[in-house]
Amino acid sequence: MTTREKPRRGTFVVIRAASTLYALIDRDDRRRSLLLMVFNLINTLFDIVALLLIIPLVTTLSSGTAPSYLSGPNAIVSLPSWVLSNPVVAIGGAVALLFIIRAGLGTLQLWWSGGVAHRAEVDLVWRLLNGSATISYSDHLDRDSGEIFRAVTDSVVRAMNLLGLGLSAAGDLILTLGIGAVIIAVNPVVGGLLIVYLAVAIGGWTFVARARVQRAGAVMGTATQARFKALQQGALLARELRLNGRAHSYAMHAVDQSGDVASARRMIDFIIPANRYVLETVVILGIVLSGAVASVTSGSASVLPTLAVMLAAMFRGLPALYRMMQFTNQCDYTMPALDALREYAASGGLAASGAEPGRPVQPPATAPRIAFTNVSFRYPRGHTDVLTDITLTIEPGMRLGIKGSSGAGKSTLLELLLGLREPTTGTITVASRPLSDDMARHQRGIGYVPQTVPLLDDTVAANIAPGWDADEVDHNQVRAVLVRVGLGAWLDGLPNGTSTVLGPGGPRMSGGQQLRLGLARALYAGPVILVIDEVTAHLDPVATDEIVAVLDGLDRSITQVAVAHDPVAVAYCDLVIDLTGGRIAASAPGDVVGPITA
Ligand SMILES: Nc1ncnc2c1ncn2[C@@H]1O[C@H](COP(=O)(O)OP(=O)(O)O)[C@@H](O)[C@H]1O
Ligand SMILES: [Mg+2]
Repeated sequence: MTTREKPRRGTFVVIRAASTLYALIDRDDRRRSLLLMVFNLINTLFDIVALLLIIPLVTTLSSGTAPSYLSGPNAIVSLPSWVLSNPVVAIGGAVALLFIIRAGLGTLQLWWSGGVAHRAEVDLVWRLLNGSATISYSDHLDRDSGEIFRAVTDSVVRAMNLLGLGLSAAGDLILTLGIGAVIIAVNPVVGGLLIVYLAVAIGGWTFVARARVQRAGAVMGTATQARFKALQQGALLARELRLNGRAHSYAMHAVDQSGDVASARRMIDFIIPANRYVLETVVILGIVLSGAVASVTSGSASVLPTLAVMLAAMFRGLPALYRMMQFTNQCDYTMPALDALREYAASGGLAASGAEPGRPVQPPATAPRIAFTNVSFRYPRGHTDVLTDITLTIEPGMRLGIKGSSGAGKSTLLELLLGLREPTTGTITVASRPLSDDMARHQRGIGYVPQTVPLLDDTVAANIAPGWDADEVDHNQVRAVLVRVGLGAWLDGLPNGTSTVLGPGGPRMSGGQQLRLGLARALYAGPVILVIDEVTAHLDPVATDEIVAVLDGLDRSITQVAVAHDPVAVAYCDLVIDLTGGRIAASAPGDVVGPITA
């Protein structure tokens, strides 16, 4: 984890934004972006050449002949005679043609840069979601559930919007500098004054707007995350909040956050278009001032050519200046989102680029022998060992029961067995090799029934085969596992069979049915090890007997590890160990039925 740095709101926000963006996107997206920037710079050249041609055009217009550097003995280029006989048409035509080509290339560039930013967004979202799916279980528990939501729905969207703008910013900068040079070349006094005036006026406005933009940018991300959490928490506690009459507090919290999001958006949606009006006003005043200064300093004869060049320069320069102002605003506005993404990536939330899902790992064909040797475990921030010196062998096909009171460490022991956590000391081997050597394969062979079985508000099939694509799910297999756990009659009673939607509006399930559903889910992929946390925690004796009968009836090719605080629930096991205070206690006579190897 990185420490949360205080955001540096320096003048160089553009550079910081660009370097953070560059670090976030992957290699192919960088390549595409750089290519597009080069294309954009080439387009800019058309603009600059066209502007340079306006100088001789204006001179020719006012004097009637082409300037001496284009004709006569001192010409810097030798032009064909038809150009010299018709200089206004030839030069004017060239200027128009260049601007038209530039417009065509500019349109192409717009379409292209949308594609580059879109592609980069898809790649980044994929890497974020992939990172969040493959991050270690304990890191996953450490995260705020709103973080990934914020990253994907807010930070990435803003970051890629900025990328799209940034792709043309370098070209705009070059164009602006080029225009500045042309203006100064035409009339150093007027041009120089105009540039200083523009820099002061635009800089002043940007400075005034800046703090507001930064605030809006910071609020946007945190409010998005807080709104998500309020909605999520309100939904999780739907019943409790209706009873205690506090549902509105979550709703109000979400509304407040939405209000913050809206006013942040309002601020940025105001400032960016307002740039245009500010710019137009500043520029019109600037041209009037240039005209006045030109007539005072160089006489009224030079006013027309000077003004013509200034107007042409502004015609091309205004959009570029506007985009640069917008880009600067967007850098300030997006910097908090970029900082959030950078921190998220630094804490391991961003998968490496090019990390494809990979070929599916084959589960083991038969149940392996699993051995714990002197295993102890302490939670990362814990002060005492939750498990101490556990030595235990689970033979293939064996049914191991673990009983113990609440807090004894049973669920923790299962998480070690599942490979979700690593022992602090000691070793766990699977088929005589360290568990971590071939963790994915080990995990693919496990069916796991957690203490509370989460129900998805989705179809029965999606509940039994979560993570499989809808068209990949084998509905016959879904039916078969439901029958196996005693839910055949229940399934037959559903209106749409395995396509019936469960969850909020769907049929209610009793505690026993829910546990069976969890068991069916665990059995769907054909596990060789079945791990059940709290077999019958919330069940009455009849339901307990039914579940135990299902478990006892399962094939001996499946190893079972079942946790229960009720000894009756694990009486069907071959061996029952008693976990007390994180240690395997000496078993009372009768507890241990003796290890049986299948
Ligand atoms: N993520 C965690 N961080 C710190 N302590 C934990 C964590 N999870 C569980 N514990 C502690 O570990 C002990 C064993 O918990 P657990 O394995 O869930 O027990 P059981 O399943 O037997 O009820 C408890 O004291 C519990 O408070
Ligand atoms: Mg437990």
